[in-house]
Amino acid sequence: MTSVLEWEATSNPVKENRAGIIGKAVDRYEGPLKVTGTAPYAYEVTPPSPAAYGVMVSATIARGRIAAIDAAAAEASPGVLLVWSHENVPEQGPRPPLYDFFTPFPRPALQSDRVYFFGQQVAVVVADTLENAQAGADLVKVTYEADSQAVDFHAHRHEATEPDSPPEFQLGNREMGDFAAGFAAAPVRIDDVWRTPLQNHCQMEPCAATAWWEGDHLTVHCSVQTVRRNQIALAATLQIPPENVRVLTRYVGGGFGGKSAFYEDTVLASLAARALGRPVKVAFSRQQMMHGTIHRPATEQRVRLGATPDGRLTALSLMTTTHCDRRGFFTEFSSLFVRNLYAAPNRLTGHSVVKLDLPVAGALRAPGEASGTLSLEVAMDELAEKLGIDPVELRIRNEPEADPETGKPFSIRQLVRCMREGAQLFGWDKRNPKPGQVRDGRWMVGLGMAAAIRGNILFPASASFTVDADGVITVRQGMTDIGTGAYTVLAQIAAETLGVPLGDVRVEIGDSELPPAPGSGGQFGAASAGSAALAAGMNLRKAIAELASNDPASPLFGGPAGQVTFQDGVVAIANRSERLADLVRRAAPDGLTAMGEVSPAADSGDWSSHTYGAHYVEVGVDTVTGEVRTRRMLGVFAAGRIINRKTARSQLTGGMIWGVSSALTEGNLVDPRYGSLINQDLAGYMVPVQADIGEVEAIMLDEVDDKANPMGIKGVGELGISGAGAAVANAIYNACGARVRDYPITPDKILAALG
Ligand code: MOS
Repeated sequence: MTSVLEWEATSNPVKENRAGIIGKAVDRYEGPLKVTGTAPYAYEVTPPSPAAYGVMVSATIARGRIAAIDAAAAEASPGVLLVWSHENVPEQGPRPPLYDFFTPFPRPALQSDRVYFFGQQVAVVVADTLENAQAGADLVKVTYEADSQAVDFHAHRHEATEPDSPPEFQLGNREMGDFAAGFAAAPVRIDDVWRTPLQNHCQMEPCAATAWWEGDHLTVHCSVQTVRRNQIALAATLQIPPENVRVLTRYVGGGFGGKSAFYEDTVLASLAARALGRPVKVAFSRQQMMHGTIHRPATEQRVRLGATPDGRLTALSLMTTTHCDRRGFFTEFSSLFVRNLYAAPNRLTGHSVVKLDLPVAGALRAPGEASGTLSLEVAMDELAEKLGIDPVELRIRNEPEADPETGKPFSIRQLVRCMREGAQLFGWDKRNPKPGQVRDGRWMVGLGMAAAIRGNILFPASASFTVDADGVITVRQGMTDIGTGAYTVLAQIAAETLGVPLGDVRVEIGDSELPPAPGSGGQFGAASAGSAALAAGMNLRKAIAELASNDPASPLFGGPAGQVTFQDGVVAIANRSERLADLVRRAAPDGLTAMGEVSPAADSGDWSSHTYGAHYVEVGVDTVTGEVRTRRMLGVFAAGRIINRKTARSQLTGGMIWGVSSALTEGNLVDPRYGSLINQDLAGYMVPVQADIGEVEAIMLDEVDDKANPMGIKGVGELGISGAGAAVANAIYNACGARVRDYPITPDKILAALG
């Protein structure tokens, strides 16, 4: 795995947790800055000299070409400094025809007269003020020649073909046993189709950039989930060496998968800053965020379950059809998790995708699981009812002993414990399995549950730790914190590892000049970045211990370095001790720095490693209006060692709340005339507010996944949403008997289902 334990084979400060900082509900490191409004987000960063402001102009057709651009009025408008379109934008690195996710590639802006989707950026106006830039942008006249377009997923889904994503994504059909025969022979069957809509991330902070040049070196603050990959991709776009580009993202107001890469804001701010010789800021508007970044594509999912009367699955299938943009290959992989979840001898999973003239499809909040559990985990509820078996019991009866498709042993799997503890805490035994039996005033009340699963990944990462003459530890890492708690957990790992109070730790992240880390996404951040931090901490311990034992002025002089302990800002060997700050000030006054690295263990592929959970939801349904309220939600999760019970809980409850909106309110409607999104602001795109969410609690089981990494941690960033919406849908059915398979489950659909 890593050399982290070579030096102190018997000691792992995170596991020993002597100071009790690991697992504690520590407040957010950057919390005070955020709640006082003083954390500078990318657009708010103060550049070295006054900035100019860019406003982008977006296409108003779904497919075709730009016939003419008339920029004369814009160019003559007060304060306008430049107007660029494909006709005059500086040359950039070409976008590859088909790219793979793991190679940062050029993402040029305003490249040609072709329009591939509504909302594609076609021009930018830069002016001395934001208002003048906006006024100038309104004066750019773009004439289009529209081609015939295909934007309606449900009208075109029959044209779907096998995904053209790289084979390692494993999105193609996979069969085990003989699914058709197994399904046909099953005495009890479910065969239904679910639909999930296109969804947008709706981060609070839109994508934005502040860029300036010093000579041939670019500094750009932008809102992204990863710095190093974007440094490389931006350099390739600008056709300059990566070392001439510094990407910073100190604070990010939400990512959710939509900020893995930069967009035109970053490219155009960088290019315009160079052309104008002054800093430039460019931001997306909310409407531009909806169209011009990525979204989760709509899906149609067919689930087929075959079972014996005693509830053993004999046939299991989830087939997903989805869409992506003309030039991409992203495929919402809603069927993948099924391969790891339940036992069944005959299995079939796979995906097909249709290319449409819609904005670019991509990752959004637990891509795959978030959408896929909305079908499978409801189908399991339907099967339980048909069999007359409790939904928890049905899932327990289909619990596999090893990974159902690869046969690999589980690193640890506590799904059953999650379900059992959740059932007990929630009062599941009080549920009446017959729908429509419980009334509370005007509300019909029902309970529902669903299982949760999400993968566990570790990406290579590095970090540096420095101790200075004040005994302060500074963590430096090209990591990001997209609101998840990365700053805080890195501080906790440093404090526990070096035995200093949390107040004596500084964390610097979000800068491509810092030791590279994978950033935030796929709930891999804490495990990857944190493991590298532990390694750096251990290496710094070693350096400090050797410093003490080699320093004749230290009370620890001559003692075995391997026996030095670190606690309360004091280094000691048995009863010989001194303050860490005193040692460093005397023996290494310029401070001491150590690096750490982590990469996946050689045997990491030998295990089926996932995070698990169980959701329990109580809803009220008003059968006159069709209104649904979530009254109580409980999630019980098993996700390895938890570093911070507060930030982890926030991640999990946040995910559960997204599950509620996936079930009840969220989704973009496509306007078939323009290929635009009809609801394109936060008034029309319904995400929950405080009043929409009743009681919500997330409980984390004690767990250590010793196969995952030296700390035994996994991730919680996306687990909470997996299954949450299905539990809501199941609760609605239990409340009133309405089974709506077309998300979101809006009041009109409930009333229609009730007849
Ligand atoms: Mo995520 S949606 O894998 O950043």
